This record gives sequence, structure tokens and C-alpha cells, in this order.
Amino acid sequence: MVGQVAVAPAAKLRGELRMPGDKSMTHRALLMAGMAAGRSTISDASDGLDPRSTAACLEALGVAIDRAGGADGHATYRIDSPGIGAWTDPAGDLDCGNSGTTLRMLAGALVGSPVRATLDGDASLRVRPVARIVNPLRAMGADIWARADDGRPPVTVVGGAPLHGIDHAPSVPSAQVKSAIMLAGLAAEGMTVVRERVATRDHTERMLRARGVTVDVEADSATGAVVVRLEGGQAIRPLDERIPGDVSSAMFWLVAGASHPDARLTLKGVGVNPTRRAAIDVLRAMGASIDESPVDKSKGESPDVEPVADLTVASSPLTAIDLSAADVAAAIDEIPALCLAAACAAGVTRIRGAGELRHKESDRLTGVAEGLNALGARVTIEGDDLVIVGGGRRPHFGLRGGEVDARDDHRLAMTFAVAGLLADGQVRFDGRSAAVSYPTFFGDLERIRA
Ligand code: S3P
Repeated sequence: MVGQVAVAPAAKLRGELRMPGDKSMTHRALLMAGMAAGRSTISDASDGLDPRSTAACLEALGVAIDRAGGADGHATYRIDSPGIGAWTDPAGDLDCGNSGTTLRMLAGALVGSPVRATLDGDASLRVRPVARIVNPLRAMGADIWARADDGRPPVTVVGGAPLHGIDHAPSVPSAQVKSAIMLAGLAAEGMTVVRERVATRDHTERMLRARGVTVDVEADSATGAVVVRLEGGQAIRPLDERIPGDVSSAMFWLVAGASHPDARLTLKGVGVNPTRRAAIDVLRAMGASIDESPVDKSKGESPDVEPVADLTVASSPLTAIDLSAADVAAAIDEIPALCLAAACAAGVTRIRGAGELRHKESDRLTGVAEGLNALGARVTIEGDDLVIVGGGRRPHFGLRGGEVDARDDHRLAMTFAVAGLLADGQVRFDGRSAAVSYPTFFGDLERIRA
């Protein structure tokens, strides 16, 4: 087990890495397999701790789950479920660990089940906002409440209340909220509608369609808004599925490869869903040379299939960028890595409207600014904006070694690890949290040193 780690600067970065299975898709594949009656298999799944929390919660609800593999960071799951209508009350609280996705999406499913359950998690999860799911699910007729005036976990659901569809426009762009409402909508009377000002990741829509559910999506290409509609009373069919590589994990290597003065890295089998790939395009707009070769072009355009590509990144001089709040929503998990790229870029980057980062596994707004500043970067927080003065000279961009606080947050830990590859001395921090989404991260990091 990795604990305190020291990442030393790399003279060169070379090699080819296979990305771990996508975390978002693995959660959904597990949850939908648990809701469907019958056997599903999931291959090339994420073996991260977060999806394992989802699997453990489903087991506690009476779903039989067999997990194999894991040594290379990929797992194969075989799920045999009696179907959501035959889920049984868990013996104790459902432990969602560090995973907001587990808690919020499972709450949406549970309101349509016959089960009474309490969803809880670790200290980080206990301070994450849940009113955003409690309120719309209650508006659908669900019997659901949470600690602190319905604001924080634990969340308790008493399933079995009759549900009806709602027409809901979430105030914060959130795929977890959209997904929770859609999963509840399957058990509701009538039509459930979610209106998003900014389109968030659409894995739930695609994966439900692949399992026989009709989901209607109306996108406004001019504004980026979408309306998702789903008729109640539809059942999810079991499915055998292969999970693409995680683009959010790939982002750390894309930033490392683009920023490092002597790098060429290939990342195999990365999911490049249009609602997930914004950070790749941001990095390209900053000047990164990223070559993309689709793995199976014929399938990429279908609304129920996830497009996949191999990505090759090479050292590139980067320039600063100005990101809007909509850009932040589209690249929400990649902002810490993009901050590091900005610290290596010429000019001043502004990342606007990034306040939602305060509510992730840690306060990432403060965490990324303090951590990168401890390594010599110049990051300030202005209201909800991040301002990063880049432009230090190659090879180290003004980044120096030092000790940083990764706040038990996987995306901060991996960002600081990449900073260690670029800095002029060792970067030290607690790296354990990387296993939440990328259990083989530090092995891969050593493999690409050349
Ligand atoms: C996720 C949605 C995002 C993201 C999280 C995974 C998902 O959260 O930050 O890592 O799988 O739906 P929000 O829905 O809270 O934005």
C-alpha cells in the first residue's frame, strides 16, 4: 500500500499506458446490473475503491457480485441480481466510502425499491451536499431525508412510496443529480424531465439505452443546454459490457506529457465521449500536441455506445487560457490537472466560476492553489475564480520540490505527483487516495520514466 510518497523529477517521459476502466461508467454499469433482473458481466472495469463501494452496497441489498482480477487495475465483475423489486433491507448502513457518485445515484435507485436503507460514508463524504438530490426525489413523492436539514449524509430512504415524474432544472450542473432523478424516474408514474443549462456527462443516458430503456435527449447546440426525458415504468435489461479507459485518469498523463520538455506518451483505449472530453480540447487549445486515433470509428456515433481512442501526447510549449463556468462544468474533475498545465504555460490563465470544486472529495479550489503554491507556482483564488500566473522557464517552470497536503483527495494527489515529475526536486505527499480512482497510478508513473 502506498502511503507517504516522494516523486522525483523525470529526465524524460516515454511509453505506452493502458488506462484504468472509467470510474463513472463502472459505477453505472454496476448499479444498472444490480437493478436489472438476471446476470450481467462488466469487463475492463475500474478497480478503484469508489466502484468497489458501489458493489459492496449492492451486495448488502441482496445482489450477488463476483469480482475477479485487479492486479493490473482492471476488474471483471459478474452480477446476478433478483432485480430492484426484490432488493432486501441491508443489515446495517450502506457504506459509500469516499464516493459521492455511489451515494447520490444509489439514493435515486433506492426510492424506487421496496427497501429501507441509510447511506453513509467517510468523513469527506459526510460534508458533501445532498439537498440537490433529496429535494427533487422528495418532489417525486419519495420518503427521503438527510442530516443537517437534509443537507449532508447520512441519507435515509424508505422505498415503496408511489413516485411520479417531475420536470426539474438542477441549480448546479451535476451528472449525479441528473442520474439520480432518471433512475428514480424509471419507477415513477408518467414522464420525468431533467433540464440542464450545461450538458453534463451523458453515460447514464447511453447506458440505459443500451439496456433497453427509451431516453429522449434534446440538445441545443447553440447554448449547450439539454433536456432529458424518460417515461416511467421501464425496466433495465441485464447486459455484458466492456468499460473504456478513464479519460479523467488519462488527463494526468496528458498534462505530464504536454508540459514536460522531453516527453512522448501513448494512452491506450481512452473513452472520448463528447460530454467527457472537454479537458483534452482545453489542453489542445493551450497548445498541446495530442494525436487521437479512434479505436472503432464505426461505433462512435451511436447514441448508446461510448467512443474510444488512443491518445498520443508530446512535449509542447503551452499558452494560458481563459475558461468559463461552462468549461469548468464540462471539465469538472480535470481542473486540478489543468491548473498544473496553466502553471507551466506562458501567460495568465483564469478559470472562472469554479466554486463547485469546493464541494468535491475535498475543497479542491483551496487544495490545488495551496499545494501548487507550496511548489513555487503562482495561483490565487478570486471569489470563485482561479488565477494562475504561468510562464516560468523550461525545464521546471519555476516548480520546486517540497511537501504538500493532498487532503486525502485522489485528484489532488495525482496532480501533485505529476508536479513532481516536472519540478526541480522531489515532491512529497500522502498518495494513498489515488486508489480511489486509479489503483495502479504510481506503478504507471514509474513505468514512463525514461
Ligand atoms: C460524476 C459526476 C461529477 C464528477 C464525479 C463523477 C458522475 O460529479 O465530479 O467525479 O459519475 O456522475 P457532480 O455530478 O457532483 O458534478
